[in-house]
Amino acid sequence: MKHVDIIEVMTDKEYVGKEVTVCGWVRTARDSKTMAFIELNDGTSLKHIQLVVDKETFSKADKMSDLTKLGCSLKVVGTVVPSAVAQDGGVEINVTDIELLGPCPEDYPLQKKRTNLETLRTMPHLRVRTNTFTAVFRVRSVLADAIHEYFQDRHYVYVHTPLITGSDCEGAGEMFRVTTQSFEDAAKYKTADEYYADDFFGKTAGLSVSGQLEGEVAAMAFGKIYTFGPSFRAENSNTTRHVAEFWHVEPEVAFAELPDIIEIAEDMIKYITKAVMDRCPAELDFFEKFFEKGLREKLTNVIESDFEILDYTKAIEILEKADADFKFPVSWGCDLQTEHERYITEEVFKKPVFVTNYPKEIKSFYMKQNPDGKTVAATDLLVPGIGEIIGCSEREADYDKLLEAMNVRGMNLDDYKDYIDLRKFGSVPHSGFGLGFERMLMYVTGVQNIRDVILFPRTVGNIR
Ligand code: 4AD
Repeated sequence: MKHVDIIEVMTDKEYVGKEVTVCGWVRTARDSKTMAFIELNDGTSLKHIQLVVDKETFSKADKMSDLTKLGCSLKVVGTVVPSAVAQDGGVEINVTDIELLGPCPEDYPLQKKRTNLETLRTMPHLRVRTNTFTAVFRVRSVLADAIHEYFQDRHYVYVHTPLITGSDCEGAGEMFRVTTQSFEDAAKYKTADEYYADDFFGKTAGLSVSGQLEGEVAAMAFGKIYTFGPSFRAENSNTTRHVAEFWHVEPEVAFAELPDIIEIAEDMIKYITKAVMDRCPAELDFFEKFFEKGLREKLTNVIESDFEILDYTKAIEILEKADADFKFPVSWGCDLQTEHERYITEEVFKKPVFVTNYPKEIKSFYMKQNPDGKTVAATDLLVPGIGEIIGCSEREADYDKLLEAMNVRGMNLDDYKDYIDLRKFGSVPHSGFGLGFERMLMYVTGVQNIRDVILFPRTVGNIR
């Protein structure tokens, strides 16, 4: 179907005075006795283009009520002219022909009135046609592009790690099981081992919570790698920042210690934030107006200021002295809850904060053990409004220490044989991090619920 993207018509002055064909869906319409005004959107632009129909000369004027129904799809031919009302050099189309591609009945749920985000979640197949989701998904696309650009320009190799795995990277028991065994099959077996031995892979398998372990394999050959794909977590966390399927950006860098990877993480966050500011001005105006006052100032601050680096022990001291009514008590050794993370980043530093050197008991087996014997070389990046967006660490590169940490946790070493081998054959200091893509998207848009930055959110008790 030959037609021009509406964004092109609106931004390229070459089209003024010319005849164009555009396609799209009707977002709003006004139909009077002599004139009709239709706002059409094809998804290439946050702004709609105005179609002006002079009913006295328009051959299909008698069908106007079908062509102005919200949600219907049209193919339109007309001449691009300077807008009669817009002050900003905008254009509109004087229509000569309209073809109704798909009619839309009166019970189309997205009527003129703004529908709240919660109601929109009940119609994931339609909510994408609203201004909010047009803006969110444009930013999502630009953010993804900027992430690839950042790593590709710096000699990283993009690797695709498996989604089905036999080993649990984080060891937090949050893996979804992958099986072809049915409920009826279970009765045939006496033990769990027999049951799983007969399963598709001959052992238990699950959806990967992180591509890190395989990412480390690749980094030991290619030096610098990154993954960018889905991770799955069967966490029973019904919060505004957890989904069961999220997109995960995981660079892994050989010959890098904790301070090096912190520098990379900060640099990358600044780069991708700037890319959104440069490439999505209309979307940011929209988010500033409807979602977060001061959004641009916040993002400028991210780009221009140094992130704070705060030792976990110091963070605990701050929290213990805090004049705040925390639900979860604080003492050295505890894991930081969202309320603590937000206090540190929102109330104390008012900017992104790397909390470093967590107690080893609350962190994963693969993290490098610090000489104090109590902490590991790990860091989480906390940001105002959300809390943790990055989990990061230097990896334990010492064969014996890694084995010891795994044994302490009672892990089955057979499941991690390849991973352990890396410490035998040319082991090097190396580090990496995981950025939750949706959480980053929430941060740059000001959208407060993770369910509103992903096409089809998967959460506890909810899938469609
Ligand atoms: O801190 P996490 O668990 O770290 C890892 O998975 C490491 N293996 C990463 C690495 O070093 N390569 O998760 C990393 C990030 C979190 O900071 C968070 O932003 C995001 O992944 N995340 C989630 N996002 C949405 N929903 C969930 N359920 C998430 N769980 C983690």
